Order: sequence, then C-alpha cells, then structure tokens
Amino acid sequence: MNIPSKGANGAKGPGGAGEIRVEGVTKSYGSAQFSKTVIEDCSFTIERNKLTVMIGPSGCGKSTLIRLLAGFERPSSGSITIDGKPVTGPGKDRLVVFQESALFPWMTTYDNIMYGPRARGEDNEATRAQAEFLLEKVGLRAFRKKYPPQLSGGMQRRAELARAMINNPDVMILDEPFRGLDAMSKELMWEYYAGLFEETHRTNFFVTTDIDEAVFLADRLIVMTNVPTRVRSVIEVDIPRPRRLANVFDSDAANDVKMQALSLLHQEAMRSFSGGSRAATDFIEAYARRNSERAAPAKPN
Ligand SMILES: Nc1ncnc2c1ncn2[C@@H]1O[C@H](COP(=O)(O)OP(=O)(O)O)[C@@H](O)[C@H]1O
Ligand SMILES: [Mg+2]
Repeated sequence: MNIPSKGANGAKGPGGAGEIRVEGVTKSYGSAQFSKTVIEDCSFTIERNKLTVMIGPSGCGKSTLIRLLAGFERPSSGSITIDGKPVTGPGKDRLVVFQESALFPWMTTYDNIMYGPRARGEDNEATRAQAEFLLEKVGLRAFRKKYPPQLSGGMQRRAELARAMINNPDVMILDEPFRGLDAMSKELMWEYYAGLFEETHRTNFFVTTDIDEAVFLADRLIVMTNVPTRVRSVIEVDIPRPRRLANVFDSDAANDVKMQALSLLHQEAMRSFSGGSRAATDFIEAYARRNSERAAPAKPN
C-alpha cells in the first residue's frame, strides 16, 4: 500500500501533473477611486512534482494569491493556468489547506479523513486502506476514534494533511498551515510533512513567513516583495532528501539559502521602511532577532 504518486507512476503522464503558471497577474480591490493593488505584475511557475515554498512579509498578498490559485477569486489582469488550462474557478485538481482548522469537530479523526471519499460515494476497500495508511503516516492510528477537540494542535494539523491527501489532488496548496503551533510541534510537523512529500513527489505549493520552515521544506523558494507583491527572487534549494532536522540545519547549503533569503527579505523590509510603514519596522526587528537566535547557540560537542 502506498500513497498514489502523481507522475512517478505515470498516473497523469510521465511528467506528473499540476504545473501552475502565473503570468503577469495583478489583483486590485475596490473601485477606481479607492482601489488598493495587492498583487502587481506577478509571474512564476509552480513546477510539477516539486515542493515550491513562497515566503514574503506578512500582509504582502500571499493569501490573496492563494485565493486566485484556488479559483475562489479572479485576477484583475494576467492569467493563471494549470497544466495549460485556465483556472476559472475551484477544481478538485487543487486542494487548499488553510491555517485555520477545517476538521469537523463532531466527527472522529477517521471519519474526518474519510469525509472526501464518502462525499464522492467512494467509501470502498481501496479508500479505507488508504485512510489506514495515512493514519499510520501521520502518527494518528491510536487517535482514530478521537474527536478534534481531543487532539493537540499538531495532531489536528496532521489529521488535516491526511484528510487533504486522501483526495489525491494534483496540487496541494498550503497557506501557513503550521502557524500558531509551538516551536517543537512545528518542527515535528516539518518532518511529517516532508516525509509525506518525499513519498509522493506530488506538486506542492507551501506559503509561509517562517524562514527556517521555508528552507527546511523547499525544492524551490520564491521570495516575494512587500505589498503590492511580486516575485523578488527564486532560489533553487539543493539540500538532499529525505530531509530530517538533524541533517538539514547543520548543512552549509541550508545556511547559504537562509542567508540569501534573509538578505532579500531584509532589503524588502528596508524599502517599505523608507516608505514609512510601521509593519516594516516590526518585520526588520523580528528577522534580525530570528537570525541571531539561530546563529548564536554553539553546536554541542
Ligand atoms: N477583499 C479585500 N479587500 C481589500 N483589501 C484586501 C482584501 N483581501 C486582502 N486585502 C489586502 O491585501 C493585503 C494582503 O493581504 P493577504 O493576502 O492576506 O496577505 P498575507 O497572506 O501575505 O499576509 C492586505 O493589506 C489586505 O488588507
Ligand atoms: Mg496570509
């Protein structure tokens, strides 16, 4: 039993599925007089079978971009395609996992995971076996009969990942899914999630504001500008998989990517700082602090 892999087993052709192209996308809200442009002339590709991470300052427009990718909203101009087809609305080829839990509190972990297949009338041997496999993968086999309020925050996020993956979308889109977890649960989630990705190499797009999370997970790291957002830079992350906490954060490769990304984000903060934004001041301080926290402690032995 295995998680059906997109591409590796040829399910959607040898190249896999779910390549998303964003070309010259602009999104503004409001009428002409009071309009606010959140995304401006933004272009990038979410490559199939890769884990693309997007990092950008809070409020730069990442969730707005996700709503466009999901098809919940339309760009003001520019185009978004998935495997060459225009995105004109929500579709089962794309599945979004949000920061807020979407688990049904009145259903057990198992029933939550089986929700999608059952809604499609697919409560069959294959999907039940798939649910068992995913329960095992996310470490929740012993919690299958518990209800969401009986699970820790990290367990709820893991249940949510399993609930999304059983639907086998071409692309998984995740909007800061581990935000709000304590530091230790968060690092455990990185390992679980990286393991799930490494099992399938499904196309994944993961949005975060956490630099360590970004470096740990990414095959490609897209660094965004401040609002109105567009791509500042794309960094290819050449850290071998499987990724585990012990082997990633000690590596020079991880450190190099982190320094490159921090420098770009810092420049973005400085630019909006000179524009007088209070958020930017907080941002610079937060990143300077994070940077020194990670760099400071001496390694054991
Ligand atoms: N429906 C909307 N109407 C007006 N402004 C919006 C709307 N949605 C988002 N914005 C603005 O877009 C900016 C980016 O928001 P968001 O995409 O949530 O950023 P991020 O996810 O990067 O933190 C914010 O300034 C927000 O106020
Ligand atoms: Mg957001």
